[in-house]
Amino acid sequence: MPRPIEALVHIDALAHNLARARAASPDARVWAVVKANAYGHGIERAFDGLRGADGFALLDLAEAERIRARGWRGPVLLLEGAFEARDLELCSRLNLWHVVHCNEQIDWLAAHKTHQPHRVFLKLNSGMNRLGFAPTAYRSAWARLNALPQVDEISLMTHFSDADGARGIAHQVDVFEAATRDLPGERSLANSAAILRHRLRSDWVRAGIMGYGSAPDFPTHDIAHWGLRPTMTLRSRLIGTQSLQAGDTVGYGSSFTAEAPLAVGVVACGYADGYPRHCGTGTPVLVNGVRTRTVGRVSMDMLAVDLTPIPGAAIGSEVTLWGCGPGEARLPIDEVAHAAGTIGYELMCALAQRVPVRIAVA
Ligand SMILES: Cc1ncc(COP(=O)(O)O)c(C=O)c1O
Repeated sequence: MPRPIEALVHIDALAHNLARARAASPDARVWAVVKANAYGHGIERAFDGLRGADGFALLDLAEAERIRARGWRGPVLLLEGAFEARDLELCSRLNLWHVVHCNEQIDWLAAHKTHQPHRVFLKLNSGMNRLGFAPTAYRSAWARLNALPQVDEISLMTHFSDADGARGIAHQVDVFEAATRDLPGERSLANSAAILRHRLRSDWVRAGIMGYGSAPDFPTHDIAHWGLRPTMTLRSRLIGTQSLQAGDTVGYGSSFTAEAPLAVGVVACGYADGYPRHCGTGTPVLVNGVRTRTVGRVSMDMLAVDLTPIPGAAIGSEVTLWGCGPGEARLPIDEVAHAAGTIGYELMCALAQRVPVRIAVA
């Protein structure tokens, strides 16, 4: 009998969330961002739910190969472009579009022998100061690319640092518009937070986290507010129970002390499964679909939950760590991430290898 923990990927929810991205940006084509193994969901599994996208955006050449191996002939975009000159050979062979964010990448293109000219997305650093050409260098980079026989189409892009927060996007949109004024080519600006929070016209939007059922601006808004559905469930079972007396403690470090008699369940899930150790007492969890809280520290393979609201719970009872519980019960991954002081992105990407993943039956 294997450990009872498993993750489920909800293909229908991926398709639903993609449709939300489309509805929010009706004039744009939608990149489904599937980097980091589709935010931990598995590229192949996510592909089945996101195949209605106009293209797939990712980082790794190996992941691009996996999308092509799935039979996808449409656009695939490398969001960070080539990491070294010889990557361009695979770009040619697999017909990958790629970001160009620095002069070295233009040098590599200029030296690249290809029969098929490349489509590139020229990235502007409009204020995030991660990747991209400074506004003052952008036009000369465009002119260099435009002169290359290895390039047939140049699109223009940037990335927002604060689309989910108070600072917003206006300052970066202004920089982008000034730097790209009169330049031909398609535009791509918005990530999930910009798609949902800022109505901004562009040719391509880049939907990442919203596709995976996490609100980019939680706790300001949750997935119910944005009409999104969980795409990953992490679930397990109770493998033990304890009856505590007042003064008894739970787990390493005795960080939780019962104030009165308390029934506690022990769940087969720990930080070695990808459940964050930073989740302290009080993190929401579902037992048999009923909401309760964790108690004490998360250990490598186990965590403990308060069984007070679930008097019938026993060894074998179903525990939902995040995602979809039995019936209509839901526990958004964002709530668990918030309790750990992080974001839904990190939890889904950190799902551990040892957790078996299945496609949920709709
Ligand atoms: C360049 C770029 N575009 C789009 C995305 C998707 O962002 P999100 O998952 O917030 O939608 C990312 C993710 O970090 C990114 O790096």
